Amino acid sequence: MRAHARWRRRRPLRTRLALACTAAVAVVALGISAAAFSIVRYELNHQLDQHLTQQATLVQQQHRDQGPQVVYGECNFLAAPACAQIVSADPGKPPNEPYLLPVTQTTRQVANRQRAGYFTDLTIGGHPARMLTTPMIAAPPGARQAVQVALRADSVQEGVRQAGALMAAVAAAGLLLAAVLGRTVARTALAPVARLTRTAERIADTRDAGLRIDLPPGRREDELTRLAGSFNTMLGELEQSVAAQRRLVADASHELRTPLTALRTNAELLARADRLTEGQRERAAAALHRQLREVTGLVNDLIELARDEEPQPLLEQVAVGRLVGHCVDTARGHWPAIAFTLDDDADGAPGHGAAERTVPGAPARLARLVSNLLDNAAKFSPPGATVEVRLTAGLELTVRDHGPGIAPEDLPYVFDRFYRASAARALPGSGLGLAMARQIAHAHGATLTAEAAPGGGALFRLRLPG
Ligand SMILES: Nc1ncnc2c1ncn2[C@@H]1O[C@H](COP(=O)(O)OP(=O)(O)O)[C@@H](O)[C@H]1O
Ligand SMILES: [Mg+2]
Repeated sequence: MRAHARWRRRRPLRTRLALACTAAVAVVALGISAAAFSIVRYELNHQLDQHLTQQATLVQQQHRDQGPQVVYGECNFLAAPACAQIVSADPGKPPNEPYLLPVTQTTRQVANRQRAGYFTDLTIGGHPARMLTTPMIAAPPGARQAVQVALRADSVQEGVRQAGALMAAVAAAGLLLAAVLGRTVARTALAPVARLTRTAERIADTRDAGLRIDLPPGRREDELTRLAGSFNTMLGELEQSVAAQRRLVADASHELRTPLTALRTNAELLARADRLTEGQRERAAAALHRQLREVTGLVNDLIELARDEEPQPLLEQVAVGRLVGHCVDTARGHWPAIAFTLDDDADGAPGHGAAERTVPGAPARLARLVSNLLDNAAKFSPPGATVEVRLTAGLELTVRDHGPGIAPEDLPYVFDRFYRASAARALPGSGLGLAMARQIAHAHGATLTAEAAPGGGALFRLRLPG
């Protein structure tokens, strides 16, 4: 039983479909053949029986017209196709034996009107024959008689046999046709599935997400075409994601090379510490420390950036106002020389002010986004300057500083990975902060843009959906 179930599971879909089609066509072919055979056999037998009935009537007429002394001859079927005899209900009354056809108790009962006439199959002189026994209607008054008529059934039997052979041949041909049709139907119907499977297997083998399934020309929208279409869409996204990851890895290895080389130089320098003065040693150690921190920050940013979309279970309703307030407080701790102002747009109607608005999102990631903007603003601001943070009721967050601002030629690139304007190179940083911020914004369906603030400084604008 279990082996059978396993076989069913493993048997390819095409075989199963072919078998189903074959079975359906075969049942129809066999059914039609069997029905045709039954009809032919019934018709042939029915004709013979009608013929027998006619003969019986004829015999009765002859008997009535020519008297009971009619001799019907031997029943050898050679001279006459039919042979007939008359049997009395009373065994003692004429016509007497010897009878040509078998006479039984039932024959006497028919003669005696105790039962209706009937047909019998029998063999006479080695030939198949059929006999009708029926009450004699034209019997003389008082005489109860039956008439028996027999006809050779060879030709009928031969006809039935031939019809049987013919129908068997037709059925066999039907079965063959069914098998061929089943295979063809299964193959044509499953051709797109086979294409799909082949492509999927090739992708699994080559890991080439650039492959696609050829869709049939014209817009025939059946289930399989739609499936193939979705499969292609999925492949496209996979390809993009793979390409993005590859680019990230390539960029990262390129960007890591310089700080790692500097690290190694300092480490090698420290390895020969005995040849250095106290001051040189301290400087090298401090540089090593700083570079290590930078590389650590870079690697952490990279890992963060390489993370894909937020896993669904981490999404929750985030109170934007509270989150921004929290980020500003943290930034004040980090940058004591900078004054942060927070305008929370308290003018909004009760229940609609920015402080109460929530958006679905990952709070830790949104906090990271805001902190990146605040850190940039503080980093590029001169000491004592103000950073103005504003959250409107329409859930638009702006961070404005009074630093050097972003040069127009740098504006299109500041969100690129590892991009740092030449003026920014002197300051610590990886060039990943804004790339990460924009990625988080996109993951939340938000837009993040940079512009020059009127009167100098940079202005970053985050529009949250709501
Ligand atoms: N508030 C700002 N004022 C001026 N330039 C900025 C500001 N924020 C970002 N930039 C520019 O955009 C670049 C990319 O920023 P970011 O991705 O955060 O990298 P990082 O801060 O590590 O340099 C910065 O190097 C700088 O040139
Ligand atoms: Mg930054």
